[in-house]
Amino acid sequence: MANQAITAKRKIILDCDPGLDDAIAILLAARNPHIELVGVTIVAGNVGLDKTTLNALKVCELAGLTHVPVARGADRPLLREPVAADYVHGESGIGGVVLPDPVKASINRHAVDFLIDTLMESDGDITLVPIGPLTNIALAMRKEPRILSKIQEIVIMGGGTFGNITPSAEFNFYADAEAARVVLASGAPITMIGLDLTHQAVATEAVKERIASLDNHISRFILELLGFYEVIYKERGLPGAAVHDPCCVAYCIDPTLFTTKLLRVDIETRGELSYGMSVIDTYGVTGKQPNVRVALTLDHERFWSMLTDTMKEYA
Ligand code: BDR
Ligand code: CA
Repeated sequence: MANQAITAKRKIILDCDPGLDDAIAILLAARNPHIELVGVTIVAGNVGLDKTTLNALKVCELAGLTHVPVARGADRPLLREPVAADYVHGESGIGGVVLPDPVKASINRHAVDFLIDTLMESDGDITLVPIGPLTNIALAMRKEPRILSKIQEIVIMGGGTFGNITPSAEFNFYADAEAARVVLASGAPITMIGLDLTHQAVATEAVKERIASLDNHISRFILELLGFYEVIYKERGLPGAAVHDPCCVAYCIDPTLFTTKLLRVDIETRGELSYGMSVIDTYGVTGKQPNVRVALTLDHERFWSMLTDTMKEYA
């Protein structure tokens, strides 16, 4: 890998709702030499839990992750009715891509219990990477508050200063705003990778050419995903798909690709127009203690080099 400075492997649990960009995040985490994927926990989000679980199992097998436990979690938000993003990710959750049925099943333990047990048995060296609605993480915090002192960091894909499902809210926070509020107010060390950041990780035509030049089964799979995913982004005026979720894994691999700022962030759960909004106190006007490291800028070139370098590992 290009960055020689990174030595130790970072242990992560990926909490996901695959999801086109979740699938790319799994592929990045699976083969990057600086990540140890301890487990994959599943939540309902982009599509329902049966589909997100099936997709996770399929993508994990594609990535050769047969030794990593996959645990089913919450099938609905804490309080509200489920909202899906199948208008973005397709009815299946991974667009029109067809993958073989998985050989392995999910483990016989709820994701919330898997999270609690794994954290409690750890040396406090596990980073949680939630890239779907925060239901599983909030439930784990409520069921066993002692996990808070065991979490090294939570690197969340969610929020931002603008919305994608409503004018003010990002999908993951909107899909379970009460859970997002619990997690952001928990006191755990949190890095928030919101839309302001992930819209800097756009798979442009030039990026797709780089991926295509790898010419292996994984690069072809990613191009298929992107072909489906980019439609809505192009309709919205972007030059390609914003690949949100892999940014969180990239942050765990090498945070020097990002600039961040420690700020106060709270989640709106009552607003008529702002349900699920991440309210970011940029100028400290509330006087409240900063609680979130907010990602501001991404080194686009190094991000895509990291992704394509890792995909070469699949040759
Ligand atoms: C987030 O919402 C989901 O649709 C994506 O997978 C990503 O996690 C972006 O708002
Ligand atoms: Ca996701």
